[in-house]
Formats: sequence, structure tokens, C-alpha cells
Amino acid sequence: MQETILITGATGTVGNQVVKKLSNLNVKVRAGVHSIIKGENLKYPNVELCEIEYHKPESLKAAFTGVDRIFMITPMSEDQVEIGKLLIDAAKEAGVKHVVRLSAAGAEAENGIQLGRWHREVEKYLEDSGLTYTILRPASFMQNFVNYYGNSIRTDNKIYLPLGHGKVSFIDARDIADVADCVLTSDKFYNQALYITGPEALTGEEVAQAISEATGRQIEFVDVPEDAAREGMKQMNMPDWMVNAMMELHQICKAGHAATVTDTTEKVTGHKGHTFRDFCHQYADCF
Ligand SMILES: NC(=O)c1ccc[n+]([C@@H]2O[C@H](COP(=O)([O-])OP(=O)(O)OC[C@H]3O[C@@H](n4cnc5c(N)ncnc54)[C@H](OP(=O)(O)O)[C@@H]3O)[C@@H](O)[C@H]2O)c1
Repeated sequence: MQETILITGATGTVGNQVVKKLSNLNVKVRAGVHSIIKGENLKYPNVELCEIEYHKPESLKAAFTGVDRIFMITPMSEDQVEIGKLLIDAAKEAGVKHVVRLSAAGAEAENGIQLGRWHREVEKYLEDSGLTYTILRPASFMQNFVNYYGNSIRTDNKIYLPLGHGKVSFIDARDIADVADCVLTSDKFYNQALYITGPEALTGEEVAQAISEATGRQIEFVDVPEDAAREGMKQMNMPDWMVNAMMELHQICKAGHAATVTDTTEKVTGHKGHTFRDFCHQYADCF
């Protein structure tokens, strides 16, 4: 019998790729969207949309009913631990057989940064839940250069980040989705944590060079002093908790702690992950 797989956060960077790829496989896909209107571009064969508001238990109950497996994506919000635990409780109550959790690289370093500690708290809750699980720990997404750092690239050909000469093993969200799809359609990865990175680690200067080559424009990497980076995020109306969390993340990248490269994508999917250059050429119109 075909399994039903629920993806929460299905309109997000990773979620929408997972839905798209799973729609070609022999499964029923339930795309959990915050609002049905936003899910318009997820209307593939085998995909049904369901509206989920994480804080409304009745919406979780409806979404989880009849589900075999779930890919659990939660937003980067201050209440992400609470949301994560609500979803795990709902999965347990519904008798879901396998929960795949999108976490983050570095979560295993329990005394690490705030974002990692939050992810680890949810991971532990899942590990202790008695549910069968797989945890995905991806590095920073290549797509951040379109979604979050893209404005200054599009408007004045500059990337402003306090990364110094630190290298980061950026991963293409499409590769995370490929790994997720393999994991969601297999029983080989039960109760494991998979650390997923891109195939190389790059400095900000190398990132700028790759975007320059793909766009034909000269893109400059500007290593912003930490005070200026903090001030810039405040001016963008980011709340204090997020500014502090992002600064911690940038600091570990600058110190070279986000440069580890793994071959998880190839091992799990059978193909190599996209390089940053591949990504830039395929997303050139977005810069
Ligand atoms: N970005 C990175 O480099 C990176 C790296 C490693 C790990 N991660 C982790 O990946 C996860 C997802 O990141 P992402 O960039 O894919 O986020 P995203 O694209 O913003 O996805 C979050 C999804 O959650 C939905 N959502 C938000 N609030 C909701 C609510 N109250 N009820 C129901 N749905 C809600 C959003 O829908 P709406 O937009 O419609 O609200 C969106 O579909 C986070 O846990 C993050 O820590 C990110």
C-alpha cells in the first residue's frame, strides 16, 4: 500500500523541494502549508495540501491523521523548541511510524550556539519519544544568498557578511531534499543523525567570485565588522534574539568551525551534491 508522507513547512526553502521530488515517487504526499494560498505552486500529482498552524492543536490533529511518515520542518523562530515538541507529541498521538527532523549542523555540540542548542533540545525530545526517527543536520543553505543576503547583491553587487576568511561548507537545499526523499522512503536510516554539507567549503570571497562568474557582474564580498553587522540587522528590524543568534552563527563560521565537508549526499542518494558554482549558474536569474 502507498504510504502517506506529511511535510510540514512545505512552502519553505527545503520543504517545497521535498514535495516536488516526492511527488514523482510512489507515495501520497500531504503538504502542510501555513496558508492554502501560499501552497498554490505545490499542486503536483499525488500531492494534497493541508493547512497547518503549529499553535492550533486541531490543525495538527487533522494533518497527522492517517500519516505514515513525517518530514518535520519548523521555522527559525524564538518558540521553535515549543513548536518542535508540539509536532513530536502530535506524531506520537497519531501513531506515525517514522519522523524525519530537519535540524542543523552543529546541533550535536551541545554547548555550542543558541540555534544549535534549540535544535538539540528538539532532537533529544524526539530521541526520547520512543518514535522511530532520522535527524538531518545540514550546513548553511546556498539559497541563503538568494533569500537572505540577496538584496545587496541585486542592488549594489555586494555581499555584506562578517565572515572574515572563514570557510563554510554551504549545501544546496535541493540536495537536502534529495537526502530527505531517500530517507523518507526507506527503512535504512532509522534512529540515525546525518550530517549533510556541500562538496566543498568556500570563503565569502570565493562565494562572490562564483556569483560574479554566473551573473557576468563583479560581485564584491565585504567583510563587515561585527558591530556594523549587528547594527545592519537591527536596521532591518530583526528582533534582538535573532541578531544575537545570527552573530553567534557568523562568529563560528569566521573561526572556521563550519568548514567540515561530508559525503553524506553521495552516500545516501548515489549522486554528488551541487557545487556552489553549479548553484550560482542554475540560480543566476535570482541574483
Ligand atoms: N537557512 C539555513 O541555512 C539553515 C541551515 C541549517 C538548518 N536550517 C533549519 O531549517 C529549518 C527551516 O529553515 P528554512 O530556511 O527552510 O525555513 P523556511 O523556508 O522559512 O520554512 C519554514 C516553513 O515553516 C512555515 N511556518 C512558519 N510558521 C508556521 C506556523 N506557525 N504554522 C505552520 N507553518 C509555519 C513557513 O510557512 P510561511 O512562510 O507560509 O509562514 C515555511 O513554510 C529551520 O529549523 C532552520 O533552523 C536552516
